[in-house]
Amino acid sequence: MGNMDVFVAVKSRRSVRSYLPDPVPKEKLDRILESARLSPSAMNRQPWHFVVVTDSAKRKALSGGHFAHFLEEAPVVIVGCGDKDASPKWYAVDTAIAMQTMVLVATDEGLGTCWIGSFNEGDVKALLGIPPSYAVVALLAIGYPHDKPSLTGTVRSMLLRRRGMESIASYEIFGNGYKSDAPQIGEA
Ligand SMILES: Cc1cc2nc3c(=O)[nH]c(=O)nc-3n(C[C@H](O)[C@H](O)[C@H](O)COP(=O)(O)O)c2cc1C
Repeated sequence: MGNMDVFVAVKSRRSVRSYLPDPVPKEKLDRILESARLSPSAMNRQPWHFVVVTDSAKRKALSGGHFAHFLEEAPVVIVGCGDKDASPKWYAVDTAIAMQTMVLVATDEGLGTCWIGSFNEGDVKALLGIPPSYAVVALLAIGYPHDKPSLTGTVRSMLLRRRGMESIASYEIFGNGYKSDAPQIGEA
């Protein structure tokens, strides 16, 4: 066991697809964004830009994707952009690292989050005035979770199931399944 409780946040995080209307307190939002700012990036280029969207008309406009309807009710949507010119090879990786860091800090702050890949990039760029050199990497919904389970039944088990350790990690050579002695946490 480590000394810090990062793993507590890792274990307790779930994608939250139903939110209370309560706003996210400014000091929590500030800490979440600070964690993005401090994230690692290739050559320390920090090729990211995050648009914090709270305006309900804008959130509604962002919620048009097939798997994104709950962006309308999440009080904050963070739009993760990566500068393709500043870091052509790593902009997406760097931006994703910063976004997952925000997810873990938000979890630690008692907030729910969900990554969203279901959006039209051109529409999002036009809506928010994102410059041409930036790609929209992903969106992040943030807010207080609504208690009702956002998923049920087979969809739930499909979306939460994790592949076994030996199929996702190898020891010394690819295909020699890594044998973990840690308890394997899995919902399904
Ligand atoms: C890049 C990315 C895009 C995703 N896009 C969506 C999405 O558009 N809509 C959605 O409901 N969930 C989305 N998810 C959430 C995944 O479905 C979820 O992480 C996965 O099923 C595991 O469940 P868990 O996050 O609750 O552990 C996305 C996740 C990632 C990492």
